[in-house]
Amino acid sequence: MKAPNLSEKYSNWKELENLAAKWQDQTMAQAFEADNNRAARFSVSAAGLCLDYSKNLLDEESLKALLQAAEEADLKGAIKKLLRGEHVNNTEDRPALHTALRFSGAPKSAEQQAVQATLDKMSDLIARVHSGEWKGFKGEKITDVVNIGIGGSDLGPRMVTKALTPYHTGHVQVHFVANIDGAEIHDLTKVLNPATTLFLVASKSFSTLETLENSLTARRWMLDNGCSQQDLAKHFVAISSKVDKAVEFGIAADNVYPLWDWVGGRYSLWSAIGMPIAFAIGMDNFNKLRHGAAAMDEHFAEASLEKNIPALMGLLMFWYSSVLGTDTQAILPYAYHLQLLPAYLQQLEMESNGKSVTKEGAKVDYQTGSIVWGTEGTNGQHSFHQLLHQGKVLVPIDFIATLKAHHPYDHQHKFLFSNCVAQSQALMTGRDQATTESELRSQGLNEEDIAFLAPHKVHPGNRPSNTLLMEKLNPESLGALIAAYEHKVYTLGVLWNINSYDQWGVELGKLLGTHVANAIETTDVPSEWDSSTQTLIRKFTEANKNI
Ligand code: F6P
Repeated sequence: MKAPNLSEKYSNWKELENLAAKWQDQTMAQAFEADNNRAARFSVSAAGLCLDYSKNLLDEESLKALLQAAEEADLKGAIKKLLRGEHVNNTEDRPALHTALRFSGAPKSAEQQAVQATLDKMSDLIARVHSGEWKGFKGEKITDVVNIGIGGSDLGPRMVTKALTPYHTGHVQVHFVANIDGAEIHDLTKVLNPATTLFLVASKSFSTLETLENSLTARRWMLDNGCSQQDLAKHFVAISSKVDKAVEFGIAADNVYPLWDWVGGRYSLWSAIGMPIAFAIGMDNFNKLRHGAAAMDEHFAEASLEKNIPALMGLLMFWYSSVLGTDTQAILPYAYHLQLLPAYLQQLEMESNGKSVTKEGAKVDYQTGSIVWGTEGTNGQHSFHQLLHQGKVLVPIDFIATLKAHHPYDHQHKFLFSNCVAQSQALMTGRDQATTESELRSQGLNEEDIAFLAPHKVHPGNRPSNTLLMEKLNPESLGALIAAYEHKVYTLGVLWNINSYDQWGVELGKLLGTHVANAIETTDVPSEWDSSTQTLIRKFTEANKNI
């Protein structure tokens, strides 16, 4: 079965393509010159976040055409379906109710009541650990909390814990272990004291190889270092939707915090999966993070699409990826503490929208999720920005900036912010041949050198970016930022008619991983496997035969 292509799906596809083609002959710089009000016209503020999308290859007409496409895809109706818990995850026949995790006030639905009970229990645990009432096997206070989890059970909590460093209470140090590579847990256990360490085993499915193996290693480490079997309960807590499996694994039933099928792993940091965040910043700030996200949810639900931050972010990405043919997008937070945001968004965007069939299972012939990459500014400027400025690929960019810093070095914050703004400005305006030549002339170069150097120094410009601005990186603004990206992803899923909430593409690699491990274990390598796989396995077996 083949899905309708986008020109069949959207009645104004030709118009969208024509509008996109216009940008071959016109520049954003001209658009700014022609309209003093462009920045205000293409900016929206909500939930403590301002999206300035004026430096995009966009005008009123193209925005209108994109909004028509959103209407034809019934984005408004789809938002309602998401928020009221319809089974938008149709291949797993479940809702995607991460928004139910971040309500404020008294819980209303059955889901919210379950969430509140879990948050209350989590709050109690954190208070007992922070105060020192919860003691390790030698009767000492817990000083270190280690989250063992991977993917959605790692990236979100790890990113937010780092992002909110200025809010760390200092009661405990929070660490993360994700990789099956034993090097990660080995490095960590070398510097930790087992008597004062608490492990959080975070796994929605409680069947993820990395998490189970790392947890077994952690358990062995505890037992080898004097903890009795009975005292393990003082050092292991689990978060899972498979409570039985966690108990079967050996976690005390009272130490298991539930998660629900209606929360996707990569959307779960607002649940007990966010426990490491709450251990680091305290429960009050964790709640502020949730409430910041709730404010963005409300905006997503209520605002008209032309004034709707997540919807606009999604429509812009649709414009670039589907109409202008881009393959990647760069996330460039000008905030050191947001350095893990690109990695977090890789899972959120690529695991959600990296699909090849529609919700009905028909093959699509259009580009879906794009490659997300990036790093924190200004580091990227001294690395890959060269390609952004002068390379041959078009990369839509999200710059993320804060008006105020948490540290006292105001002059450095001024330079950080200036660089962020200057990058988006330089990418947009570029520097043409004539300006480049006259600059070289004013530096005293002769005409021959000018003719040689000028082409190398020309910046084509017309390279698009959004700037997401917040007053300060705090729990509320971060919550709103993350929720904006979650809803952007859903917007794209709706426009492409794909399911953003399943991830079948990760299954085959996992399955073959266990087959290869078995082949190594038994030294029985199936002869029908390809010669590359067989040779690689034999090399490993050979290298490890005496171990
Ligand atoms: O890699 C696939 C995946 O299933 C992700 O979707 C998920 O976030 C991660 O593994 C971890 O899963 P779990 O929380 O069940 O251990």
